[in-house]
Formats: sequence, C-alpha cells, structure tokens
Amino acid sequence: MRQHVNPLSHFFQLPLSLPSNSILFKNSHDPIHIDIGSAKGEFLIELASKYPNWNFLGLEIREPLVSSSERKRKQLGLLNLKFLYCNVNISLDEWLSDLDLNQLKRVSIQFPDPWFKRKHLKRRVLTKSLLNSIARSISKDGELFIQSDISKLIEYMTNIIDESIYFDRKILKGLKWLEKNPYEVTTDRELFVLKQNLPIYRAMYIRNSALFIN
Ligand SMILES: C[S@@+](CC[C@H](N)C(=O)[O-])C[C@H]1O[C@@H](n2cnc3c(N)ncnc32)[C@H](O)[C@@H]1O
Repeated sequence: MRQHVNPLSHFFQLPLSLPSNSILFKNSHDPIHIDIGSAKGEFLIELASKYPNWNFLGLEIREPLVSSSERKRKQLGLLNLKFLYCNVNISLDEWLSDLDLNQLKRVSIQFPDPWFKRKHLKRRVLTKSLLNSIARSISKDGELFIQSDISKLIEYMTNIIDESIYFDRKILKGLKWLEKNPYEVTTDRELFVLKQNLPIYRAMYIRNSALFIN
C-alpha cells in the first residue's frame, strides 16, 4: 500500500458528507474523541473497548485502511466507535458544525505525515483552518493532543497552535514535552518509535474559555 496520498490532489478535494453523529454511535450523546489520521485503527479500538461511555471517531484519508478498521470494529461489536473515510481538511468542518455543544471533548493528531519538502508543507494535515474548526466545536477544557517523532514537524504544529487564542498549552513538571501518552494506549507508529528508542515529542493543549469569533 502506498504510504502517502496527496491530500491536495483534485480527487481528495471533493467534500464528502459524513454521516451525522446521531446515526454513528449507539449512545450518540456520549462525549466524543476524534483521532485524525487513524490509519489501521488499533489505537481507537483499544480505547473504545476500555471506555464504553465515550464515543470514538477515526478519520482517515486512505480508504482501504478505513475498510479494514471497520471490519475489525464490527467483529468486536463496538458500537461506540466508527471509522470514516475523508480528507479532514475538506470534510470535517461541516461534520463538526452539526454537533451538540460541549460534546466534542478530545481530538488527537498522532504522528501525522511529515511532508518534509518545502513545496509540500501545504499538504500537512494541521492547518490554521482545521485548528479553527476544532476550536469552534470542542468544549471548554477539551483536549487537543499531538505527538510526533519529528522535531521539525512538531515545532511546526505547536507554532500554529501557540498562535491561536483558543488553546493553552498544558505543561507538566515544567517540561516542554509530555513524558507519556496521556491516554496510555500507544498508536502503531508510537510503538515502532518506542521500540527503536527514539525520542517522541508530545504536547497537550486545552481549549480555554475564549469565545469563538468567526
Ligand atoms: C503516519 S500515519 C500515522 C497513523 C497513526 N496516527 C499512528 O500514529 O500510527 C498518518 C495518517 O494520517 C492519514 N492522513 C494524512 N492526511 C490526512 C487527511 N488530510 N485526512 C485524513 N487522514 C489523513 C494518513 O493516511 C495516515 O494514515
């Protein structure tokens, strides 16, 4: 399977109308955690099994990964979890705008594709526009968690979030990066990096009380 798809190609610019929250989950009023770039889905499958009173939504631009994640989810009978195929930069904003106030509690973006070349920076998933969509919909005190093994990429992401008036960085023990994944469930990429004993840069941001201004 190809490792990266170009999210800016015409094909991925078509907006997809994602099914509404009310039909995705059995208990559609439970708090929601969205994982952006859910890949093979293992992270959310484990969380959804551990926390039945939360709803988990994995969003992924590579359709075959969504199909296989959904297959695993169905085999396990998890009704508080769903994987959807979309380009989050195109389709997430509308889905978020339909949510009940205070329902979205967590968003994670873990080991996003790095797109190293300068001319490819625009393909990176975290943009000001995506961040604003999240800021508009996530509840006060909601969590935005990011992690990566690539220092230049995480600096790029933290710069975008630090510039936003809607999020405050959570600093623990005076350290710039969190020592551990706060959800205590590792993603595939995280496990791979941990096994190689390489550094992982993690940051948690909390939605503050600033009113969202369009
Ligand atoms: C390097 S993988 C990391 C996967 C997983 N989060 C982990 O930590 O193991 C990044 C994932 O983000 C997905 N992705 C990249 N751009 C995306 C976009 N615009 N919308 C949705 N998913 C995207 C990729 O297809 C890929 O599966």
